[in-house]
Amino acid sequence: MKSSFWISSLLLSTIIIGGCSAGNTQSENESEKNQAMDHTKMEPEQKMGDMEEMEGHMSHENPAALNDSTEENELAIPPLLEPVDGSYPITAQQGTTEIFEGIQTDTYGYNGSFLGPVIRIKRGDAVTFKTRNELTEPTTFHWHGLDIPGKGDGGPHQVVEPGETKDVKFTVNQEASTLWFHPHQKGITAEQVYKGLAGLIYVEDENSQKLGLPDNYGVNDFPLVFQDRQFDDKNQLNFKAMHNDDGTIGNTLLVNGTLNPKLTVGAEKVRLRLLNGSNARNYTFKLNTGDSFQQIATDGGFLNEPLEMSEITLTPGERAEIIVDFSKQNSNSDIALVNEEDTILLPFKVRDEQTNSAELPESLNDYKVTDEERSLPVAKRLELFGMGMHVTINGKQFDMNRIDFTQKQGETEIWEVYNKPDPMGGMVHPFHIHGTQFKIVTIDGEDPPEILQGWKDTVAIEPGQTVKLAVKFNNKGTYMYHCHLLEHEDNGMMGQVEVN
Ligand code: C2O
Ligand code: CU
Repeated sequence: MKSSFWISSLLLSTIIIGGCSAGNTQSENESEKNQAMDHTKMEPEQKMGDMEEMEGHMSHENPAALNDSTEENELAIPPLLEPVDGSYPITAQQGTTEIFEGIQTDTYGYNGSFLGPVIRIKRGDAVTFKTRNELTEPTTFHWHGLDIPGKGDGGPHQVVEPGETKDVKFTVNQEASTLWFHPHQKGITAEQVYKGLAGLIYVEDENSQKLGLPDNYGVNDFPLVFQDRQFDDKNQLNFKAMHNDDGTIGNTLLVNGTLNPKLTVGAEKVRLRLLNGSNARNYTFKLNTGDSFQQIATDGGFLNEPLEMSEITLTPGERAEIIVDFSKQNSNSDIALVNEEDTILLPFKVRDEQTNSAELPESLNDYKVTDEERSLPVAKRLELFGMGMHVTINGKQFDMNRIDFTQKQGETEIWEVYNKPDPMGGMVHPFHIHGTQFKIVTIDGEDPPEILQGWKDTVAIEPGQTVKLAVKFNNKGTYMYHCHLLEHEDNGMMGQVEVN
């Protein structure tokens, strides 16, 4: 059965000029197969859609639909990892997890069998991450969004072999933000993340501690890690079978690793820290009630003021913090986070008692793009191009032994990143730079929308778009920049900048 997919894929890919890879077609077959198993999802238009998708890039804009959450399980809240004498033990390990009732699924996790804890660090603190690899394969520990010397960044050069430990020491020197960590092992990042290696990092600072935002962890301040997965008929995560060169997509959503989640909240303002931790799927989050919410933070810090939003799109790697006011809901109303197709991602149960919700502060931060930054000439040009196995940056694929750019520590440079369309359109690439938070100066020559006027480490670039970023590294070392669609990263859509 499998091999016939590959044969038909090969035939198709020779017909399609330079476009969607064979792997892509394979996954549509997979998704068709899965939809066929679920009769409620088998609609004629959808099957037509699948046929059309084979002709172009539509599958990336309209990937296999996600199942609605049936609300069976209360959302898992990851343990909070607080330091002991400044040190945090972080062990990558394998295990089994009961994702489906009564069934053990083989998974990876940090300090547990699946996913990781929330590591809480504070600006100014000297910390040590005591990393340990208990897997049977090499891995690295990468701190996505963290301002850290290159040697501790956990890129593909900093392999931790099975059984080895490595201490990563640094001083926290950045704003309050929600960052995350995951492996970066060359060529197998997508697979290791898919199996469960991902966790969050909360950075706190004086500002975050005095703003009076909801910050009672697991009570009115919740981490939400969104990941789509495809389980096989034994309810296992069979990455190799599901793998797609343009991003492995699944029909099953896990939030913090919980299948069919619901979240019980007080009738108060609740802070949700959203991470798109998926390999490739984009989400547009909104409330099914049509109510708006306030966005308070981007990847790397607070926005200057809360921004009223009715929906928010996150591509892989991106984060946002939002405040939802549940005091306006009554406990009988069905309120849920849904995506653009109105798939129910996370239903909420609102407890009856009225809690007092303080007003949100009007001012949260003092981010700005300076006139000087605006007037800087372009120092580096990057061109993102291609699909599947043929993804490149400036025409090249990743080479561990090649430094693509250099930059001086502490100097701001303008990086101009262009997503060059291919004859079939092209696709959105979430562009990420390690070891820094950057500012988006312009998108196609215009000021970015308000939600992108804040610190970012990952920016979604549409085909044909050019973004100008003001990039400064506070530390020295070698850092990766890459597409955060993890299969593109593994396929070589990555380069290295040496900061000295
Ligand atoms: Cu989430 Cu190279 O990073
Ligand atoms: Cu990409």
